[in-house]
This record gives sequence, C-alpha cells and structure tokens, in this order.
Amino acid sequence: MLSKKIIEEVKSKVDIVDVISRYVSLQKVGNNYRALCPFHTETTPSFYVNPSFKTYHCFGCGASGDVIKFIQEIEGVSFIEALRRLAKEANVKIELDETSSFHSLYLKFYNELHEEYKRNLNDFAISYLKNRGFEEDEIKKYEFGFAPIDSDIPYKIAKKLNINSLRKLGFLHGKDPFSGRLIIPIKDEYGRVIAFGGRILGEGQPKYINSYETEFFKKSSTMFLFNIAKDKIKNADFAIVCEGYFDAISFHRAGLTNAVATLGTAFTKFHARKIRKLTQNIVLSFDMDSAGVKATLLSLKILLTMDFNVMIVVFEDGKDPDEILKTKGKTGLFNIVQSAIPAEVFVPKALSKKYDLKNSNAANMYLNELKSWSEIFKSAPQRYENFKNKVKEILGYDVDFEKPSYFFSKKATMLPTLEDMLVYLYLNFPEQFEKLDVDASLLNFEAQKFFNFVKDENFSFDKLSKEMEGYIESVLKKMENTEIDETYMETIERKLLERKLEKRIKEIDKYLEKASDEEKKVLLQTRIELVRELKKLGR
Ligand code: UTP
Ligand code: MN
Repeated sequence: MLSKKIIEEVKSKVDIVDVISRYVSLQKVGNNYRALCPFHTETTPSFYVNPSFKTYHCFGCGASGDVIKFIQEIEGVSFIEALRRLAKEANVKIELDETSSFHSLYLKFYNELHEEYKRNLNDFAISYLKNRGFEEDEIKKYEFGFAPIDSDIPYKIAKKLNINSLRKLGFLHGKDPFSGRLIIPIKDEYGRVIAFGGRILGEGQPKYINSYETEFFKKSSTMFLFNIAKDKIKNADFAIVCEGYFDAISFHRAGLTNAVATLGTAFTKFHARKIRKLTQNIVLSFDMDSAGVKATLLSLKILLTMDFNVMIVVFEDGKDPDEILKTKGKTGLFNIVQSAIPAEVFVPKALSKKYDLKNSNAANMYLNELKSWSEIFKSAPQRYENFKNKVKEILGYDVDFEKPSYFFSKKATMLPTLEDMLVYLYLNFPEQFEKLDVDASLLNFEAQKFFNFVKDENFSFDKLSKEMEGYIESVLKKMENTEIDETYMETIERKLLERKLEKRIKEIDKYLEKASDEEKKVLLQTRIELVRELKKLGR
C-alpha cells in the first residue's frame, strides 16, 4: 500500500487551481474558482474549485473530489497513474512503493504470457489467419498467438512470478478463458501488453473475449493499436476510429496506420481526450447495423461537444473495413475513407431510417429527435446550414428548429413509467439491460426492491415470481407487446437522465436552505441551468 503520507504530500505540493486550469478556464469568485464543468455539457458554470479544501465540486453533474481524482477522471487513468504524474510534478518520490512495483510485475506477466501464446501459434491458427488474408510476415508483425486447449499457462506464469491475486491480473481462477482461441495482444500507449483479446477460430459464441478489466486495463480509455497509430494521427492530422480488432488491423495493412479500435464497448470521452491531444479530426468507421449506427450517434455527441470535426464512413449493410479490404483491396479501403460524409449530413439521414416519414406523427417524432442535434450543430454556422439543408432534402420542406410548434407532444397518461420500462427490459432482454448504466437509487420503491432481488446471488425466477408476482404481472400487462427498439432504449436513457437531473435539483433545494447569500446566487443559477436541461429533454 502507498502510505497516506505520500498521498497527502503530493496533494499539498501541487496547486489544484493550477492543475485544473490546464483543462478549463477558471474564474475567481470569492475564495473559490468557477468554470464550465469539463465532465458534462453546460452553458452556465456550476463547477467549483475550492483551493483551501483542495477539492472540486460540480453542482450540475455531481462530479467531485481532490486533485488526484480530477486527473483520474479527466485523463481516464488509474489512481496510481494520476498520483505518479502529480508526484513527478511536485518532485515527490514514489518509485519504491509496492503498487508501482506491482505494475512492473503486471507488465512482466503479460509480456511472458504473450511470448508463451506466440510460441503456441499452431498450424490451425496460422491457417485461420492465412484464410483471412494474412502473409507470414504480417502474422509476425501483429504478434498473434494461440492459447492451447486446456491451457494453464496464465496460472503457471502467475505462480512463477509469485503473484497471488489472479483477479488483479485480469484473470479468474479456473481454466484459461482464452483456451483454444487466437490471441490478439492489447497494448498500452507505450506498446506494452496489458490485456488480450481472444477470437474463436471459426464460428461460435462468444466470438471474442477480453481479459477482465484491471487497474492497468480500462476498456473505456484503451484503444487497440493506439501505440502505433498515435504518431501517424499527428502527422496525418486525423484519426480513424473503428470497432473491431480486425477492422483496425485492416486499415493498418492498407497503410492507414492512423486507425484505432475501441474494445467492443462504446467510444468514450476518455478515448476522445487521448485523440484530442493529437488531432481535431476524426473519421468514424463503425458498422452500419442498428448497433453500429447507435454507437456512431453516441460517439458523435461526445465528439461534437468536444469540438472535433467528424466524418462518417457509411458502409453498405453488413460490410466492415475488414470485408472491404478483402473484397476491394487497399484502394477500396482508401476510397471508402475518402467518401466519408460529415456528421451534420449523416445524422438526419441515419435518424430518418427509423421513421415512416409519410406519417405525420412519425415525422414529428423525427423532428423532435433532430431538435437536440440542431442545438449541437448550431454552434458552427456552416455545419448548421448543411444540417438544415439535409433535413429539407429529406422532408421536402424547410424546418425552423427555433419554433417549438413542430414538436410532438406526448399524451401523459397511459405512458409507461421508467420503472415499467426497465423491469420489462430486464425480464425480456437482460443483455440489453446490462448495457445501461442504471442507478437503482433513482427508481421508485417497488423497482428498487425488484432490482435488489434479481441482483441477489441466490436469485431464482421461482423465488422472484413468488415474492413479486403482483408487481411483475402489472408491469407486463401495461407493457404488453411493446417492441424493444432503439427508440425504447433512447427513451429509457433520456428518462434516467431526467431523474438524475431532478435529483440534483432536489439536492440543491436542500442545500439552499442553509446557504449564504453569495452561495445562494450561485446555486440558483445552477438550478436554472438544470431546469433548462430538464426542459430540453422534453418536459
Ligand atoms: P464484430 O462482431 O463486428 O466483429 O465485433 P468483427 O470485428 O467483424 O470480427 P471478425 O471480423 O468476425 O473477426 C466488433 C468488436 O466487438 C467486440 C470485439 O472487440 C470486436 O472486435 N466483440 C465482438 C466482443 O467483445 N465480443 C463479441 O462476442 C463480439
Ligand atoms: Mn469483420
């Protein structure tokens, strides 16, 4: 363990105001500093830094902590990495602590394991790769490996290195989860192996597995091939972001070494910040199935609010970069990158596919959805112009996004509650449910009880139906035959956000009772901002 003393020393030696001001523009208010929160999008500052307590707090999104937490969050790094960076700045030595020596042990473990997997690359795996178009030298170059059937290699190496906690290495006890799989090394930005992806050779489920996340491997900030891509991203002044290992590799094989891939999860602001240091331009190259379009839209929201210029590659149905390289070669892949379209043209087009626009209700829903995008594009006049032109082209008439009358207003009765939607989703599509980040404390009592119940390790459906039969029945009845599509998922996400905002407003109201006049002014301003955000969500 790191001594508390060292942590305190680092915190006392670095100037939190100085550190935070590298990321946001701080303005002095009384004894504190204020800024637009870097952790959520807002137009009125509700992010405060208190230099005497050496803390920060955002009344808008609830982000708070000390300077170490700030670096962790904003850079997407581990506690120890944040501490290390700050210690370096403050000239505090922390090299000899155990945690950092565990990091080197961790790297050693992964390095040795990777070597062993490479040694086990057999003809079976090689012919799989050759079938996917790889030459011998490329197989070496991308350092593929193979985990033999019934492998116990990770355990042997951990034992040899005297590491007891497999979990800290991203493994669990039991058999090697990668057994029988092709091994793809995942490296940190310095090129050190920190995790693996494992692909099944041929058909089967799951197609890919990853090492579990650890202190040194976070999917939300790791990008596959970033270690190679970073120089090229800077030189070429743009990055290509795709979603599969083999997609990123395909770009690299074609000479587009400025491509990176996310690891089967969403593209996050942490990924974005890493790229932002190198370029302002991104080409998104996700699949164009409904999951891929959704991922593209979510990524776009993050990227556009961070002021990136974003182009989107629109693949034909079912095609991905890997497939294009195979069928159309390098030129084919180059051409498809060249034909990428700007975000403001992509969005209206992609969203229009969800609606039958001849139906006026559907057209209103479409416009309602576009409204929030119009706010995003508005900040750049040319983009906004292109956006409106595209909408006009699609609908056949001009839309004035400033005028609210176009927008669909829902009948408030009969609509299922957030709780109904979540419970229904959980019961019917648990894997979709898992994709959501549900804070149960935002839900009503019955739903909280339900989710506590299903989280219990001794959970069984029999028991559940005994305990909560009436409740579940009523939810199912209300939701009868509801189709779970993107709109459903988006509604849930919007409603969750609404709840969160409402909770913050309540917190502020409580705080207001005891606040000083100066504080009140500030809090009320934040409150107004929150209420405005709530309204934007369609209240
Ligand atoms: P895809 O299903 O699009 O696969 O998953 P792909 O990249 O085309 O794979 P190949 O070409 O058939 O080999 C995209 C990414 O999603 C993650 C992986 O990171 C994969 O590269 N994924 C996919 C998983 O983590 N688990 C899975 O079971 C499937
Ligand atoms: Mn593929």
